[in-house]
Amino acid sequence: MRILGIETSCDETAIAIVEDGVNIISSSIASSAELHAKTGGIIPEQAARQQIYSILPVLNDCLTQIDLTSSFKDFAGVDAIAVTYGPGLIGSLLVGVELGRTLAYLWEKPLVPVNHLIAHLYANWIDDHNLKGKKFKEPEFPALGLVVSGGHTDLVYMKSHKEIEWISGTRDDAAGEAFDKIARLLGLEYPGGPSIAKEADQWLLQNFKFKILNLKLNMFPRPMIDEDNFDWSFSGLKTAVARETQKIDPDSLKLRRGELAAQVQEAIVDCLVIKSIKAIEKFQPKSFIVGGGVSANKRLRNNLQFALTAQAGIHNLQLPVELFMPNHNLSTDNAAAIAACGYFHYSPIAWNEIQVNPELTIIDTL
Ligand code: KG4
Ligand code: ZN
Repeated sequence: MRILGIETSCDETAIAIVEDGVNIISSSIASSAELHAKTGGIIPEQAARQQIYSILPVLNDCLTQIDLTSSFKDFAGVDAIAVTYGPGLIGSLLVGVELGRTLAYLWEKPLVPVNHLIAHLYANWIDDHNLKGKKFKEPEFPALGLVVSGGHTDLVYMKSHKEIEWISGTRDDAAGEAFDKIARLLGLEYPGGPSIAKEADQWLLQNFKFKILNLKLNMFPRPMIDEDNFDWSFSGLKTAVARETQKIDPDSLKLRRGELAAQVQEAIVDCLVIKSIKAIEKFQPKSFIVGGGVSANKRLRNNLQFALTAQAGIHNLQLPVELFMPNHNLSTDNAAAIAACGYFHYSPIAWNEIQVNPELTIIDTL
């Protein structure tokens, strides 16, 4: 079954065709992130306008890749349309949903509404043929799923594709939001995650003596990590960084940016890793699957893998759980994950029944 996925919840305009939820047939994406970098963050009205400008060129590009444009009117190449209906920015969501329902109407195809947050986890079901020698494998159930995006940090237990239970989340800012807000404090560009990661990784490389001297990257707090729950809180971290930056004049801040970025990245990564390991110990899933923009973070990927291996060592076991994290292009917003989610959560509705829901939570269904 070939599903055409549409993703427009924020500042990416993406369309992809995916076969049986696993193989990408064609994919196209445009981003207005550069525009938002100029204003230091997203202005929703501007993001929506960019979605309108980009959506048809992206559709055309996606279809041209497989040369199906000629059969536009009587479209035989696609079996269904899947579209993100929330959560996200209302103006941006509306653009994708309107395209989705128009195509479903015109081509007389089923329309599958997709929850963007769950879709992030489905990036791990896609065989992107880029696994550096590793053979592609689908995650096994039961699984724990961690979504770490710009607006959400949620942990869910997945007994099967359709049996998903919310376990925990952030009490205030999301992990990606913490990266974005703290990047501003450090004078780094939007989106903050990749900017902080770049500065931090360069600094860590240049200061590998930190490792040798066994100095700890512990300048900032790890809120809630000693608490007996699986929740997170990142707003205190932002306040701690603000307090530190207020003490420093702008020139010194520039000089210390790499170090501060490394300290911030480590604090966020530690919080995510420590609570993930705690949850794995309790729920004993077969797979631990991560998705959302922050899962592109190399330090998170390495430290999570390292912690899992160490955990296995302590218990003298083989790796207790298999870790799945998508490659960069499938970690951040993309349409292939929407199409994959539409395949595994196939519940079509009529084109006139779909409605956007900017406040959708990870376990809401239409
Ligand atoms: O999933 P996503 O593309 O969009 C949302 O659904 O929000 O996630 C965007 C978030 C932003 O906060 C961005 O700063 C963060 O993911 N991000 C990263 C990295 N790449 C993107 N955070 C840390 N390290 C990265 N390499
Ligand atoms: Zn997202």
